[in-house]
Amino acid sequence: MLVLGIETSCDESSAALLRDGEVLLSNVVASQVDLHSEYGGVVPEVAARAHLEAIVPVLEEALRVAAERPDLVAVTVGPGLVGSLIVGISVAKGLAWSWDVPMVGVNHVEAHAFAPALEGRLPEYPFLALVVSGGHTLLAEISGIDDIEILGQTLDDALGEAYDKVAKYLDLGYPGGPIIDRLAAVGNPRAVEFPRAMISSGDLNFSLSGLKTAVIRYMMKAGAQAPGIEDIAASFQAAALEVIVRKTIKAAEERGLRDVVLGGGVACNTALRASLADACEAEGLSLVYPSPVLCTDNAAMIAALGYRRFQAGYRSGLRQDVFPNQGTGEPIAGTGKIG
Ligand code: KG4
Ligand code: ZN
Repeated sequence: MLVLGIETSCDESSAALLRDGEVLLSNVVASQVDLHSEYGGVVPEVAARAHLEAIVPVLEEALRVAAERPDLVAVTVGPGLVGSLIVGISVAKGLAWSWDVPMVGVNHVEAHAFAPALEGRLPEYPFLALVVSGGHTLLAEISGIDDIEILGQTLDDALGEAYDKVAKYLDLGYPGGPIIDRLAAVGNPRAVEFPRAMISSGDLNFSLSGLKTAVIRYMMKAGAQAPGIEDIAASFQAAALEVIVRKTIKAAEERGLRDVVLGGGVACNTALRASLADACEAEGLSLVYPSPVLCTDNAAMIAALGYRRFQAGYRSGLRQDVFPNQGTGEPIAGTGKIG
């Protein structure tokens, strides 16, 4: 079975072809980073228009390797920016209609947790997923394709958002995550003791906006006395990641889960990968994370989850709407099981 995946929820236009849920034939990603970097963040209107220009060339390139017509179109219906989502779903509907094949809508955040399937490394159910991206930061217990329970999540900023905002304040460039990652690698994580928000809260939630404020306040106060930017980056990162790693282990223990999946754009982060791997090893847990191109936004993960949802009987009609605030583990209105 050949699945075409389409992803346009934020600032990446992407299309991918996946055979039988695991053989990736193509995964084309057109990033809009250059367009948004002058603003230091994604501008929704600019993003939607850029998808409109990019999506057809991206699809053409992804479909070039196809010897036959796809059997299914899988598309992100949320969460994300409404104008961006509309571009993807409109194209998906047009293709499903003209090819006369089914379409299935997919939750973008859930898809991040299924990305290891593309490398044959998805654990058996139930497993714990830590999804850390620019828009979301959550822990979920995944017991099946439609049995997903949020265990904890950020109460304010997402982890990637915290990286991006701190980098913007420090004038480092956009997106800030990869830049802080590189700087932190040569900095001293103990140079400044930033707060570990909610580390002893007893629940599995996070709060990351105070950390950004703490970094800004510290820099204003320290002025010329502040340590080098590498040390600030490493200290910020150490504070953020300590809470994330601690709560991930706590979630696994509380739920008796042995397998952990790390996904989302921030799953590219060197320090997060290393510290979570160490913590999991110490607790006898197995950890998988996808290759970097499958961590950041891509249509391959949409195809991987769409394929599984299709196999489970899910279909979307050609009147399918998009949902900017679609919740993880929640049913998608307009997408249901047939029969
Ligand atoms: O999953 P993603 O591509 O898009 C969303 O769904 O949001 O995640 C993008 C986020 C951005 O905030 C970016 O700064 C962050 O992932 N990111 C990183 C790294 N690479 C990307 N954060 C920290 N370290 C990295 N190496
Ligand atoms: Zn994402």
